[in-house]
Amino acid sequence: MARRPSIGYRQAMAPNVRAVEVEEFPAWVDQMYRTFFQPTAEGLAQHYVETIDRTRMLGAFEGAAVVATLRSDLQELTVPGGGVLAASGLTNVTVAPSHRRRGLLTEMATRELDAAKDRGEACSTLIAAEYPIYGRFGYGPATTSVRYEVATGGLRFTRPSTGRLELVDPVRFLEVAPGIYDQFRRAQPGSIDRNEVWWEVVTGQRSIAGRPQVQGTQAVFYGAAGELAGYVRYEGKPQTSDLRHHGTVVVHELVALGAEAYRALWGFVAELDLAVMVEAPMRPTDELLPLLLHDARKVTVAGSHDHLWLRPLDVEAMLEARRYQVAGQLVIEVHDPSGYADGRFELDGSPEGASCKRTPRSAELEASVGALGAAYLGGHRWTDLEHAGWVRELVPGAAARADLLFGTLRAPWCSTWF
Ligand SMILES: CC(C)(COP(=O)(O)OP(=O)(O)OC[C@H]1O[C@@H](n2cnc3c(N)ncnc32)[C@H](O)[C@@H]1OP(=O)(O)O)[C@@H](O)C(=O)NCCC(=O)NCCS
Repeated sequence: MARRPSIGYRQAMAPNVRAVEVEEFPAWVDQMYRTFFQPTAEGLAQHYVETIDRTRMLGAFEGAAVVATLRSDLQELTVPGGGVLAASGLTNVTVAPSHRRRGLLTEMATRELDAAKDRGEACSTLIAAEYPIYGRFGYGPATTSVRYEVATGGLRFTRPSTGRLELVDPVRFLEVAPGIYDQFRRAQPGSIDRNEVWWEVVTGQRSIAGRPQVQGTQAVFYGAAGELAGYVRYEGKPQTSDLRHHGTVVVHELVALGAEAYRALWGFVAELDLAVMVEAPMRPTDELLPLLLHDARKVTVAGSHDHLWLRPLDVEAMLEARRYQVAGQLVIEVHDPSGYADGRFELDGSPEGASCKRTPRSAELEASVGALGAAYLGGHRWTDLEHAGWVRELVPGAAARADLLFGTLRAPWCSTWF
């Protein structure tokens, strides 16, 4: 099967794209940080040597100079119904300004997607620095991240909270939070697993290049039976004039296992003294907080952006891994110029299980591979994608039927940067 992109892609020119040796890490890290306008520091390369998988890493070399970078991590992606998929999480993608628009990204991304397909990973994921970059490689925007602002002056919850909150130090937090998150992410479509390094960095137990990265304060929630059921990581940004306080509390992360934990954790951050505003920058589209308040207008959507992009590689594995809202069948023709996901697939899905296989039957829906990526987790409706021209309906009503099948109770959400 021809996998490499065949339409409109340029081949890499002079620079040599290849795996990266340990002694080349400093140059690789320098290239990446420089392109992201970040200062490098001594010890940074060592952090990468210790923490990343060198077998999933590429560099473009011109002599000893590194002019482009890309790597991936193996991820577990939760899909609707609670199943997980092996995904290749693409990250650290940079091309030196002196070498851009010469096909280096195309060359590296193609190699990475070939490798992911060969490794048996069902899809590739990423967070796009700029929206227009990755559609051409078959990625579709699959989850949305919303920034909420909550005006806390006079804010009242309609019901009191139960349970108990406890401020904890980073060591205790590191003991309990990964387990809470793991339970949460297994039920939240669009979320991914986090490794030990991720947790060590956010709790300040691992410094990068001599700099601890810990941010703010942590609290954990215990439910009525004394069970751990949530946590919040937050940071106060004080602002005072004439002893009048108008500080902001930034919620880095709020994870709740259930309604009690959710109400208590939001109540806790909303009622912190010396602040008049809570800013929560990376939240789901279907945040329930307004419904818990006497005055829902205290909560505003201050911004939003596409977050997780998804690039299908193995359509059968993907469609069989998830569960569907209702029982039904659908034949989808997927167009993938790179070949990985190209073909006509018959889905037989239900809330209990699914089968998907290639079929000679006529298609009811025709979708670009990126459109399938956008619709797969339930983050975009098939009917919307049909209106937008990403999907073509070959049988009237097929997109609406697909919406019934692919709909999810809760919006897909990825709360992790990578
Ligand atoms: C984004 C970046 C990696 C692109 O690398 P590159 O080697 O220049 O990309 P390519 O030459 O392979 O480009 C392939 C195609 O994508 C297009 N493209 C690349 N970057 C683009 C962008 N930022 N916006 C719109 N189109 C883009 C190119 O124009 C080209 O299209 P064409 O073949 O129709 O001319 C590079 O510009 C960069 O490092 N930017 C800063 C860091 C960054 O944004 N990284 C992405 C992190 S997610």
